[in-house]
Amino acid sequence: MIITIENLVKSYEDVVALKGVSFQVEKGEIFGLLGPNGAGKTTLMEIICGLRRFDEGKVTILDMDIEKEADKVKGLIGFCPQETLLYRYLSVRENLVFAASLYSLSSKETKERIRFLAKFLGLEEFLDKRVEKLSGGMKRRASLAASLMHDPEIVILDEPTVGFDPNVKREFWELIKQLHSEGKTILLSTHNMEEADALCDRVAIMDLGKIVALDKPETLKKRYGSGAVIHVKVKGSHVEKAAKLLRRWKPKLEDGELKIFVKDPWKLMPELSSTLFGKGILAEKIEVTEPTLEDVFLNLTGKRLVEGEAV
Ligand SMILES: Nc1ncnc2c1ncn2[C@@H]1O[C@H](COP(=O)(O)OP(=O)(O)OP(=O)(O)O)[C@@H](O)[C@H]1O
Ligand SMILES: [Mg+2]
Repeated sequence: MIITIENLVKSYEDVVALKGVSFQVEKGEIFGLLGPNGAGKTTLMEIICGLRRFDEGKVTILDMDIEKEADKVKGLIGFCPQETLLYRYLSVRENLVFAASLYSLSSKETKERIRFLAKFLGLEEFLDKRVEKLSGGMKRRASLAASLMHDPEIVILDEPTVGFDPNVKREFWELIKQLHSEGKTILLSTHNMEEADALCDRVAIMDLGKIVALDKPETLKKRYGSGAVIHVKVKGSHVEKAAKLLRRWKPKLEDGELKIFVKDPWKLMPELSSTLFGKGILAEKIEVTEPTLEDVFLNLTGKRLVEGEAV
């Protein structure tokens, strides 16, 4: 295990932000913390990065206690915070040189790393621009570059794509996947369930300072989701006949279509369509909607997990 967290407790003056959080991150995985505002994601990440103290519990990185071996641990982690920490009046290159100095990189290493990361993150044209002149997406790339200067084994990304439009978001996902394919271990936080689903090998669902469920996205959806639905639309005059033919799957007629609630829709599909087709009924539409991590969150907490806020 590359990160082990045991029973972590952290209070601010009047809020208990972490109420006994335990989990482990395996080397080379993308591990997601999914939860609404105030769940405790940033607090947890800042503790792992050694930026914040905690009240109780234990955090080890590669079996090293983060408090006792803070210096060794620091070099293993690259942190890309929720609010970018770049100097806005400096250029991207100057910021990267500064980041390198924090890890005592030689000037040769610094130059090589800047060249490599600028290419990797598509920042080549922006290296000599002041940070304040960059778009939000480019700022995030520059911030990621700063956190990768010392080539850390673990990359911690606090809400890496919040506020991005869908295209920029997807581009950023590709970068994260590429880091992953190079063998980095990635811990990221998000309140975007689509992001957690698309990127993460495992997801810890957090709410109010606790982990309420932890598993692979597929397993979470199977276990806590509301099941899948097969939507079958046939010509109006054929609805009753179709409903009869499909009765063993207990279809419900809603909004002019038959809905079949099942656990494993894809297994059922061939039999279902041949049952209709065999009796000469042509379906205008057969569609499957599967449960999402949104359903999982709703079922576990009774609340909705909406991009940016829980309502
Ligand atoms: N510096 C602080 N002082 C006092 N309370 C704090 C501080 N930082 C966070 N909190 C509180 O701790 C709780 C957890 O906050 P945290 O920022 O860790 O949540 P989060 O999951 O990162 O939320 P978000 O999705 O909004 O970033 C919240 O109730 C927050 O108000
Ligand atoms: Mg946060």
